[in-house]
Parts: sequence; C-alpha cells; structure tokens
Amino acid sequence: MIKIGIIGYGYWGPNLVRNFNGNKNFSIVKVADTRSERLNLLQKAYPLIEITTNPNDIIKDPSIDAVAIATPVFTHFQLAKTALENGKHVLLEKPMTSTSQEAEELIRIASGKKLSLMVDHTFLYTGAVQKIKQLIDSDTIGKVKYLDSTRINLGLFQPDINVLWDLAPHDISILTHLVGEKPYSLNATGVSHTSNDVENIAYLTVNFESGFIAHFNCSWTSPVKIRLMLIGGDNKMIVYNDLEPTEKIKIYDTGYDIKTDEEKQNLLVDYRTGDIFIPKTAPTEALALMAEDFAQSILNGKDTVSNFNSGLSVIKILEASNESIKNRGKEIIIK
Ligand SMILES: NC(=O)c1ccc[n+]([C@@H]2O[C@H](COP(=O)([O-])OP(=O)(O)OC[C@H]3O[C@@H](n4cnc5c(N)ncnc54)[C@H](O)[C@@H]3O)[C@@H](O)[C@H]2O)c1
Repeated sequence: MIKIGIIGYGYWGPNLVRNFNGNKNFSIVKVADTRSERLNLLQKAYPLIEITTNPNDIIKDPSIDAVAIATPVFTHFQLAKTALENGKHVLLEKPMTSTSQEAEELIRIASGKKLSLMVDHTFLYTGAVQKIKQLIDSDTIGKVKYLDSTRINLGLFQPDINVLWDLAPHDISILTHLVGEKPYSLNATGVSHTSNDVENIAYLTVNFESGFIAHFNCSWTSPVKIRLMLIGGDNKMIVYNDLEPTEKIKIYDTGYDIKTDEEKQNLLVDYRTGDIFIPKTAPTEALALMAEDFAQSILNGKDTVSNFNSGLSVIKILEASNESIKNRGKEIIIK
C-alpha cells in the first residue's frame, strides 16, 4: 500500500482525492491546503483523512511515500523539489512547472534518486485519446497531415498564467502523445482584455519539418463551450468532440487525390467523401487510470503514459509561445 499525501484541495484536488481513495494501491494519509475552509469540506466527505494547512506536514512526513500536487502552477516547482529531496514520489498537475529550467531540475533530482515523477496530462488516459492513438498507430487514417483543436468557453480568468498555459497543456500533451515527430517551430498570437496583460484569447500554430501542422485556438471569452479536435490523415479524417457524451469520435472516410495535368500547370483534385464510422471508446474515468499508472510506476518501475518527458515538451512549447506572443507572432524555433 502506497501512503500518499495530496497538496491542494481547490477545484481539481477533490478529483485526485476521489480517485486515489478509490485505488486499491493507495492510502491517502493527509491532505493539505492553505485555506482551512477547503479542508473542512474534505473532512465532511472523508473523516478518516488527516488535514493540515502546512504542505510541509506532508512533504517532510517520513511515513508518506508519495505526494500529489494540485496547487497553482507557480507553486509546483518548490513543492515538488522539496518533496523529491525528502524521498517522495511526485505526481504534479499540468502544467508541470513555470519554466523548462525548473522542469529539468525536477527531472534531474527524480532520476538521481530513482523516484517516480509524473505529470497528470489527464486526457492521455481517456478512451477517446487511446482510440485515436490506435487509429494512428495502426495506419487506419494514413499519414497524418494536420491536427486542429478548439478549446474555448467562458472560462475562469487565471491571475498568474495565460489562456494557453491554462488550456493548451491538454491539447499539446495529446499532440506529443499522438505524433512521434518533434516540433520544429511555432507562431503564437494572443490578446489580453484586462489590465494585467494576461492573454485571455490565444492562437498557437506548431510547425513540423515533415509538413505536418498543428493549430490550437484557446479562449476564456467564448459564449459557447467547444472542445473539438480535427485530425486529418491522407486516408481518413477524425473528428473528436469531447463534449459528446458517448459518440466522441467520428472517423470520416474523406480524402482527396491530387494530380497535375501534363503541363504541370493546373492541380486536378479528386475528392472522396465516403462513410462515417463511430468507434466504441472505453468509458473508464481517465483519472482512475492515471492513478493506477502512478501506482505501477512506484511499485514496478513501469514507464507511465503521461511522464516527465511529455511534461517538459509541453512547457517548452508554452515558453516559446510566450516569446512569440510578445513578438507579435514571430516564428520561434523550439529547442
Ligand atoms: N488535469 C486536469 O484536467 C486539470 C484540471 C483543472 C486544473 N488542473 C491543474 O490543477 C492545479 C490546481 O488547479 P485548480 O483549478 O484546482 O486551482 P484552485 O485555485 O481551485 O485550487 C488550488 C488550491 O491550492 C491551494 N494552495 C495554494 N498554494 C498552496 C500551498 N503552497 N500549499 C497548499 N495548498 C495551496 C489553494 O488554497 C487552493 O485551494 C493547476 O496546476 C491546474 O492547471 C488540472
């Protein structure tokens, strides 16, 4: 049984508590939040879990094996670093850290101490993303040409991170999970409609040397909620609507063949629109699978689906997007 402490019981922390509580390999020993009113809520639901307003009561408790951190991003690095230095396995909420330098330092400490360091990119554990990965890996949709994602709603304005740092980690982690190729460069634009200069609308394009292209539209100021991803292959195309309760994925037998005429002057485009197929996707809650993945990495050294490498790739893209936004969409090479 892995003894775990959870830090942060705001909006997302309760989901972690519920899922770690439901996993046979974990026993939640303590939950910390600097706001005691949040802990009072926790105690009503889970009277046996200890509470504390001081995260060090978890991080420095020698009886605790692992720590899950669901606090604001700017606190992730220091909490995770101290936890790793105290010999704890660490699960960090997305986005991993505020800078790639911080992420790299955490990876170095975890690797040196042979501790699990995982980032919760929840979407990688959904039935829908698992199915899309199968469709791409089995060559069902052919060579993937583009990924286009819209993640917009009337969202909570975050004081410390812009809309890309808030919403795009989901899409970028899906991108890096599905596509093996490393991104080459990006262009991003964004705008802040508040006095704090934190962008509430942003558009990000990620470029690849092969000609594959990915685009993300993120906003906290949309009147409607849209969670829609299009993935185009040269054989078939996928529409992934995460708001659909059951039919989240549709595979379109849609495509085109291009020929040039004899003088190579005109493009001859032969369009194909065929059947639409709706595959079954696993209904298991993603966070339950994520918690089990974390357990297996601690107990058996298993590589996790969402790991620190994907955490770092996401941060590198977000960092470069900040630079591009500051320079009005300038192309930034991703290091
Ligand atoms: N995986 C997902 O799908 C998903 C969804 C939402 C949020 N998140 C991530 O979860 C994290 C938390 O987001 P949230 O929306 O729950 O934020 P939140 O502000 O609602 O909750 C954060 C909680 O942490 C507490 N806190 C802050 N600093 C602390 C500290 N040093 N020690 C102990 N407690 C502290 C706050 O009092 C608050 O209750 C963020 O990294 C966010 O990106 C992930």
